[in-house]
Amino acid sequence: YDYDLLVVGSANADLVTVVERRPAAGETVLGSDLVVHPGGKGANQAVAAARLGARTALLARVGNDGHGRLLLDSMRDAGVDTVGVLVGGAPTGVALITVDPSGDNSIVVSPGANGRLSPEDIRAAGSLFQAARVVSAQLEIPLESVVEVVRNLSPEGRFVLNPSPPRPLPREVLAACDPLIVNEHEARVIAGADAELGDSPEDWAKTLLALGPRSVVITLGAEGALIAVRAGERVRVPSVPVEAVDTTGAGDAFTAALAWRLGAGESLAQAAGYAARVGAAAVTRPGAQDSFPTSQEVEALCCALPGDTPR
Ligand code: RIB
Ligand code: NA
Repeated sequence: YDYDLLVVGSANADLVTVVERRPAAGETVLGSDLVVHPGGKGANQAVAAARLGARTALLARVGNDGHGRLLLDSMRDAGVDTVGVLVGGAPTGVALITVDPSGDNSIVVSPGANGRLSPEDIRAAGSLFQAARVVSAQLEIPLESVVEVVRNLSPEGRFVLNPSPPRPLPREVLAACDPLIVNEHEARVIAGADAELGDSPEDWAKTLLALGPRSVVITLGAEGALIAVRAGERVRVPSVPVEAVDTTGAGDAFTAALAWRLGAGESLAQAAGYAARVGAAAVTRPGAQDSFPTSQEVEALCCALPGDTPR
């Protein structure tokens, strides 16, 4: 394989301001000076994996504009192969982000060029799929394009999906996921409005597994993550406590690290343990891609924790 990971997804310029609290409808609040960070769930995953040392390619679409160049620069600096990054058709996607004092964010995404990443574009990049050990995607591109991703997977290619922002998915997509990575909100949307999800994360996992994925990872914030495989194995992975500055993109870094370690042959539980450290490092710094750690930083974080031992 030429690539440890092929990411298919979005690339956005993140326009970020820090606020004391979010405005209610009809209200105006003052925020901090605007900062423009490279982001987008797809580009975030690609940059996170490449910075850790994974051979990574991104299949995405950006505009022929300054935001597109910001993203291409960030990818190249991290070592992402941008051969699959198409340019033009619409302005680069933009995410309007407010970050509050606890580090939590609210995001509105204007898809722009991400919305023009077509099934035709996916088919045309077929050789990238054959060259990748693992393929990952999210839902900031058209759903038809995600369906086309699944149809282009190589026979042994592993597929990892973080369905964010969530919407109900065809069984064809769900059945390809190994794992499907969701938080509680995403789990509810994927299960469907009428579904009884159950009370515990173990129940949610059971409900989701019945929809077809070979494995499920449920992220639980400070509670860590739950791993569930179809065969019945259930494992809880603890979170790594850190001081949160900006959680933007931490979930993308988690997903990318997990996908990469799975491709390297680790078990889901091992890979999720490593990914939890990567996500934790990312929340300690502002921005998405700008905050993602190198593997040395991940090791340092692990060793600074009481009772923790290096991998
Ligand atoms: O997951 C975080 C990302 O969501 C941000 O970088 C923003 O661009 C939105 O896509
Ligand atoms: Na961050």
